[in-house]
Amino acid sequence: MHLGSIGRSWLAAIVVLGASFSLSAHAAGDAQLGQKKFYTCYGCHGIENYRNAYPDYRVPMLRHQHAAYIIAALQEYKAGDRPHPTMHAQASSLSDQDMQDIAAYLQGPEPVKPSTGVVGQIPPQAQVCAACHGANGLGVAVPLTPKPPVLAGQHEDYLVQALEAYRNGRRKNPIMMGMAQSLASDADVKIVAAYFASQRSPLATATIDSK
Ligand code: HEC
Ligand code: HEC
Repeated sequence: MHLGSIGRSWLAAIVVLGASFSLSAHAAGDAQLGQKKFYTCYGCHGIENYRNAYPDYRVPMLRHQHAAYIIAALQEYKAGDRPHPTMHAQASSLSDQDMQDIAAYLQGPEPVKPSTGVVGQIPPQAQVCAACHGANGLGVAVPLTPKPPVLAGQHEDYLVQALEAYRNGRRKNPIMMGMAQSLASDADVKIVAAYFASQRSPLATATIDSK
């Protein structure tokens, strides 16, 4: 009788495990399909240091960025919560499944792991950011929803552009609008952007043969 109930609980555990495996496999998207679906995106995101015109700044690096964040960002461009017209058009052409597949391809099988090493010294303006982005922009060990992006090694001029857009409310993200407004001046924005851009990073341009 005893054995029987242990047997049943094991069975229940296996069934639950099986269900969560198939769910996460689905949520992860199909990286091979994602690479194919990324073909229009290579025109900008696949070229090292490719620049946006008016205003002039480098397009963000996407290789190894967190999948959950890529999906959230694409949904925000699609919904108009981020102001970029080309990215609005690009994201609007994607289904939820396309976004998941592209995000799986960009992130790769292993998400970037948080670590403690810091290049230089964290400026006082960036202390508050460490709670979610980590002291070095590689994130924190506790799981956070929504998933904060990797900032480490991202282009400095893109980070400035993103922070200014949160700060003046053109990017409508409730968490980051408040955080960016805690940066008192353009000089503070520049300091935190330069700091996170200078950190060691796995972020890279998603060229066709990037790993
Ligand atoms: C014409 C150039 C161009 C093309 C084509 C393009 N992008 Fe972008 N993308 C940009 C620029 C510029 C930004 C930054 C916009 C901003 O300031 O918010 C961006 C931002 C993004 C971001 C946000 C990254 C972050 O760190 O927040 C994602 C994700 C993204 N693009 C994915 C894609 C995907 C997927 C495609 C193809 C379906 C694509 N892009 C096609 C120029 C482009
Ligand atoms: C409470 C958690 C939290 C804190 C604290 C926080 N962030 Fe964020 N950050 C996020 C989340 C979540 C996002 C994604 C927002 C979105 O979807 O647009 C984000 C996005 C960003 C982006 C956009 C990156 C990209 O690729 O477009 C930048 C830049 C950024 N944060 C910088 C900062 C800085 C600088 C600070 C400190 C002044 C800070 N963050 C504090 C959670 C946080």
